[in-house]
Amino acid sequence: MVTPSHASVPSRGPAQAQAPGLFVAFEGGDGAGKSTQARLLAESLRAAGHEVLLTREPGGTEIGEKLRALVLEHGHGEIDPRTEALIFAAARAAHVAQAIGPALARGAVVITDRYIGSSVVYQGVGRALGEDAVRALNEWATDGLWPDLTVLLDVDEAEGRARRTAGEAAEDRLESEPDAFHRQVRSAFLQLAAARPDASLVLDAGRAPDDLAGEIVSEVEARLRARRAASAGTAARPAEDTAAGDPAAGKRAHA
Ligand code: TYD
Repeated sequence: MVTPSHASVPSRGPAQAQAPGLFVAFEGGDGAGKSTQARLLAESLRAAGHEVLLTREPGGTEIGEKLRALVLEHGHGEIDPRTEALIFAAARAAHVAQAIGPALARGAVVITDRYIGSSVVYQGVGRALGEDAVRALNEWATDGLWPDLTVLLDVDEAEGRARRTAGEAAEDRLESEPDAFHRQVRSAFLQLAAARPDASLVLDAGRAPDDLAGEIVSEVEARLRARRAASAGTAARPAEDTAAGDPAAGKRAHA
């Protein structure tokens, strides 16, 4: 169960609240088509002239890609749930410090294929470590950075497995968990999105890819326009305040 405390999760953490970029995460069960949609969104935004960082988790940095191999490939021996959660969180800490944070500070749109939601759901619920503990660990790891928008591609476990096994690639450590695990994952993703309604877009992953892509681009462009309008308003406000009737403020401003 996702606890009601998620309702108070901020869109951004304190350290990044002023960064001008937009942070978008794709989440969903294995086989939902996140990577395709993340790529299509990046292509559309780049074509419209935006700077985009397209990245993924675990990964996105040199250390993150090494940790990805360690935690996802079979053959490194047993990995207990706490160790697994810490590896994902360590990869995420490096990702935020080295890639995501700097890109947001430059004003880029950051698009990541998976983020904190995956840990809350897979480790917190799937591995039964508890969502609150996993969320707290990850908020520490990321200095409280949550996405402005999480796009959840909702897929049921049977469809997800059918899509994964249709490809050539073998299932990784998490993907090869039984259907009951993936059923829990799906329901926990939906609850997490419901707890952050203003920062979530939930879509049926079974829709045509182009149709999904169109809706996602529209949503992200609307948020970019709102962000630009808000920062233009903030920049304009001191002058407006001065003109609007506090002569003392005007004097201070021009002193
Ligand atoms: P993903 O990149 O979606 O796999 P693929 O490259 O095969 O499309 O995700 C890899 C797996 O890692 C996936 O099964 C979910 C799992 N995972 C977690 O369990 N916790 C996490 O925090 C993250 C980021 C991923």
